[in-house]
Amino acid sequence: MLTELRTKVGKWIIAGVVLIISMGVFTPIAYADPSLGSKVFNANCAACHIGGGNVVQAQKTLKLEALQKYGMDSIDAIVAQVTGGKNAMPAFKGKLKADQITDVAEYVLAQANNGWKKG
Ligand code: HEC
Repeated sequence: MLTELRTKVGKWIIAGVVLIISMGVFTPIAYADPSLGSKVFNANCAACHIGGGNVVQAQKTLKLEALQKYGMDSIDAIVAQVTGGKNAMPAFKGKLKADQITDVAEYVLAQANNGWKKG
């Protein structure tokens, strides 16, 4: 009787552990990842635009004032420039998918509005 109870409790503990582990593994797949744009940015843009700056052409930063000054403060404008490139900035057409370009444009605008604070 007691052994039977122990086995039952043991089974529930194992089931619980398996459930917790699988939740951890499957969470990123089950839910949309809000940090998608940030991942694209860090992998493709940060080399030149670290912290929202511009290491190649100093005045063309990704800060809100610069984006407004150069008419780049919209999703459409950023998507167009990332897709086709401009001067020293390479085109990302073929390298990034259209939805990745939209994600990164949304991220850039959100960060610009947020003053490029971490997080
Ligand atoms: C090799 C360096 C380089 C990389 C990589 C790069 N950029 Fe740029 N970016 C530039 C340069 C140079 C400019 C200025 C272009 C110009 O107007 O002459 C610029 C301009 C911009 C602007 C407009 C800024 C303004 O103030 O007018 C945006 C927005 C932008 N980049 C976004 C991105 C995004 C998003 C990525 C990644 C997908 C990216 N860039 C990758 C070099 C780069």
